[in-house]
Amino acid sequence: MSSKIKTLKQITNKLYYQNNLDSKELLYLLNNINTEIKQDIIEKSNKTKINIYGNKIFMRGLIEFTNYCKKSCEYCGIRAQNKNIDRYRLSLDQILSCCEEGNKLGFKTFVLQGGEDSYYTDDKIVEIIQTIKKNYSDSAITLSIGEKSYDSYKNFFDAGADRYLLRHETASKELYDKFHKNSSFESRIKCLWNLKKIGFQVGAGFMIGLPGQSNEDLVKDVMFIKELQPHMVGIGPFIPHKDTSLRNNNSGTIDKTIIMLAIIRLFLPKVLLPATTALGSIDPLGREKGLQAGANVVMPNLSPTVVRDKYALYDGKICTGDEAAKCRTCIEDKINKAGFTIDMSRGDHISWKGR
Ligand code: SAM
Ligand code: SF4
Ligand code: FES
Repeated sequence: MSSKIKTLKQITNKLYYQNNLDSKELLYLLNNINTEIKQDIIEKSNKTKINIYGNKIFMRGLIEFTNYCKKSCEYCGIRAQNKNIDRYRLSLDQILSCCEEGNKLGFKTFVLQGGEDSYYTDDKIVEIIQTIKKNYSDSAITLSIGEKSYDSYKNFFDAGADRYLLRHETASKELYDKFHKNSSFESRIKCLWNLKKIGFQVGAGFMIGLPGQSNEDLVKDVMFIKELQPHMVGIGPFIPHKDTSLRNNNSGTIDKTIIMLAIIRLFLPKVLLPATTALGSIDPLGREKGLQAGANVVMPNLSPTVVRDKYALYDGKICTGDEAAKCRTCIEDKINKAGFTIDMSRGDHISWKGR
């Protein structure tokens, strides 16, 4: 065995047994990873997940309720500057219909996601949360509606929202500034700490393969996650959108995304880790591969089919024409084929003690 492989094995063993590495070790691992070590990490990650959550995969129903957004994230197809898309907003009744359909299909978590849309004032969001909670008191609500003030987040939490997803996107300030001309890296990070302080189950996360992203940048992502200790981590490949300045760049790769999923599982063994739609969009077996590398959540779409293709964050997004019921059975089949079973409970983080 070469000394490089020996060192790599020592590093992956340390990661498996101690759930920790320092920046130098992690960078060495990322710079020198090969097929054998990749397989080793994937197996260790899957084993870690099974030790904690068994072979169950949690299901969440995703409702993309607005594609209006005031922000200009360079990579995103629904950024404010894109004049080529049909904008839509769902009414409270339409959102409730999605929940009703989701409830019939067995979902016990509704993820409300959208652009940063000022039409939905805090009062409107609170009304949406309270109405869903009144009708489906045994279900969890996850919000993913971007950066808000501490007080707004607190209002949403007090109204009954349980979880909040806010990817930090990249923990490299230089890279963040490159893709977010009018936003502040520090504010985004501050939002995540505020969400934790308020008591949400918090999801951070990052994209893989952003143009110019290096292994050093990915090390920063992992070190930030290690410090924040979020309950969830959303990791997906960057995929270009034709109406953005990044249209000619390559997508993040399945390999790198899988490796980063496995590494995050090993750093945070109890984390809730989705196999994302973006992963399924770059590879027909992407989500299955993600589940086998440590992911334990999937989020099929509950949005009305008439608006599905309008929530186009990137080109080639899957499931844009499929009914909620079709995605529900399709994903169950994929989960089973990957060797797991579905879990339709709320699927809180295993250390969650409730409100
Ligand atoms: N507006 C909210 C926010 O930004 O937090 C929530 C919705 S936003 C569309 C959800 C996620 O989509 C972002 O956090 C980003 O990581 C991801 N996303 C946007 N454009 C993408 C692209 N071109 N490729 C892959 N993921 C993308
Ligand atoms: Fe808006 Fe979120 Fe897209 Fe940024 S990533 S433009 S905040 S929807
Ligand atoms: Fe939507 Fe397969 S998950 S069609």
